[in-house]
Amino acid sequence: MPREFASVGVVGLGTMGAGIAEVFARSGIPVVGVELNDDCIARSRGHIEHSTERALAKGKLDDAAREALLDRITYTTSLEALADVDLVVEAIPEHLDAKGDLFEQLAKITKPEVILASNTSSLSITEIGVHTPRPSKVVGLHFFNPAPVMALVEVVRTVVTEQDVVDDVVALAARIGKSPVVTGDRAGFIANALLFGYLNHAVTMYEQKYATREDLDAAMRFGCGYPMGPLALIDLIGLDTAYEILDSMYHQSRDRRHAPAPILKQMITAGLLGRKTGRGFYTYDAPDSPTVV
Ligand code: 3HC
Repeated sequence: MPREFASVGVVGLGTMGAGIAEVFARSGIPVVGVELNDDCIARSRGHIEHSTERALAKGKLDDAAREALLDRITYTTSLEALADVDLVVEAIPEHLDAKGDLFEQLAKITKPEVILASNTSSLSITEIGVHTPRPSKVVGLHFFNPAPVMALVEVVRTVVTEQDVVDDVVALAARIGKSPVVTGDRAGFIANALLFGYLNHAVTMYEQKYATREDLDAAMRFGCGYPMGPLALIDLIGLDTAYEILDSMYHQSRDRRHAPAPILKQMITAGLLGRKTGRGFYTYDAPDSPTVV
């Protein structure tokens, strides 16, 4: 019998986790969102309110649907609140030890048949799964930024993930309006493995003063029809996240294309993480604002 997923938990409501919670709630599925403290909860709530206001302004939601969406999300700082959910999606920062500890706890708190999914983009699902006594119920469920808008979801199976787990998660992804693809557990999965060599190359060209940031981005937008140029896209993804993904792929494959361009690390050290800090390759007048100053 396919699982019904009457409710889901999302742990970590940063940019990605908040977007993921919004996507489930928009599809009518109650969400239990878990964050570290009240400040983090307030930030997540603000993020979802802002995103759904945008959807409202664009005619993607009406007032009643927006209210219902917001009402379907409950916020808590307690993992114990996940005792009755049918799926947990983890979206905490990309540290293997922290994820391992979290999955170990989740396996104790949740019902034994519950699927534990990670939104990681740079860590191994297999390595996360072995922290639980049920790695066969662990999958990757990798959303793209901004999660409420981007259609793709990668469902990542390991060598021990049960087929019915993959099938049920693929069906769920379709139910929430996404286009799922299934991939094995290798760094970068499909999309990032193809995308990040290109992004890194753009950073190198910028670093070598080959062209201005505006011209690099304009070339790909107007010459190739990409919705954003590579440097603006890294600002959206976050330079820290981009670095982690590149570093992880480089360590797995030793492919020079994925050796992070040195300037990325320098910008991260200087606090230029992209839109989330108001400055990356471009300067934004407010976090998450697309305005280039
Ligand atoms: N819910 C539903 N729809 C929403 C929404 C919400 N909360 N917020 C916005 N939308 C809709 C809008 O109505 C609009 O729809 P339309 O095209 O039918 O009018 C569409 O989403 C685009 O929104 P906006 O008009 O507000 O914004 P833009 O047109 O400026 O597009 C963008 C912004 C979607 C970010 C676009 O520039 C884009 O697609 N950029 C590329 C993003 C990308 O490549 N992401 C992947 C990054 S890699 C990654 O995430 C992997 C990870 O591991 C790091």
